[in-house]
Amino acid sequence: MEIKPGEKEDSLTLVKQGAEARVFESTFVGRRSIVKERFSKKYRHPSLDLKLTLKRLNAEARCMTKARRLGVSTPVLYAVDPVLHTLTFEYVEGPAVKDVLLDFGSHGVMEERMDNIAKQIGEAIGKLHDGGLIHGDLTTSNMLLRSDTNHLVLIDFGLSFTSTLPEDKAVDLYVLERALLSMHSSCGNVMDRILAAYRKSSKQWSSTLNKLAEVRQRGRKRTMVG
Ligand SMILES: Nc1ncnc2c1ncn2[C@@H]1O[C@H](COP(=O)(O)OP(=O)(O)OP(=O)(O)O)[C@@H](O)[C@H]1O
Ligand SMILES: [Mg+2]
Repeated sequence: MEIKPGEKEDSLTLVKQGAEARVFESTFVGRRSIVKERFSKKYRHPSLDLKLTLKRLNAEARCMTKARRLGVSTPVLYAVDPVLHTLTFEYVEGPAVKDVLLDFGSHGVMEERMDNIAKQIGEAIGKLHDGGLIHGDLTTSNMLLRSDTNHLVLIDFGLSFTSTLPEDKAVDLYVLERALLSMHSSCGNVMDRILAAYRKSSKQWSSTLNKLAEVRQRGRKRTMVG
């Protein structure tokens, strides 16, 4: 059945319909929650599809739990349902970093807030990377700021994986850099501030940032050819 954003369905409200997952708002034992449902890909063989869907579901839950263990704030994972292919999380009250940064452009720069956010982002990524975890989708939509504490919360570990390779870490940072350039060009040197915090947070910053320089070069060449 087609459900449109905002429509109620058995106390589930659709928040986002993506290519691989549907995200709903709901309640879990009386608490406001988010339900992320991975759905099947019709073009894949049914049994292979089920296997892959379950693998991704478990990988997302595992990576998110690992991030928490590494000291990075994530939503609390309430439940994993391997039959319905859903993960249920704590609902984090607060805006996405994306919306806060987009507001900077229109309301003038609040330097301190920007600095604080950039610092939290750099620290969090440094912790993930030193623990051998690559987020895989570092965009400003996948970062929330808790309203009560202003603390950064990372979400959407659907593309995360474990790796200790500087190349994988550099690409993780590069994805964020591109996202910032395209979405938040009015925010000035926010990536520089993130990287400054990253350097302080990650013991292996040097090899990662050297790789990042290479990855940028490759990106530039590709743009020139394309
Ligand atoms: N724990 C949460 N608390 C509040 N809002 C959330 C939470 N988790 C997700 N959201 C909201 O739902 C949106 C989509 O969630 P998410 O990023 O996990 O899914 P997705 O981008 O569709 O996933 P994928 O990239 O794996 O396909 C987020 O951008 C955010 O607005
Ligand atoms: Mg997302």
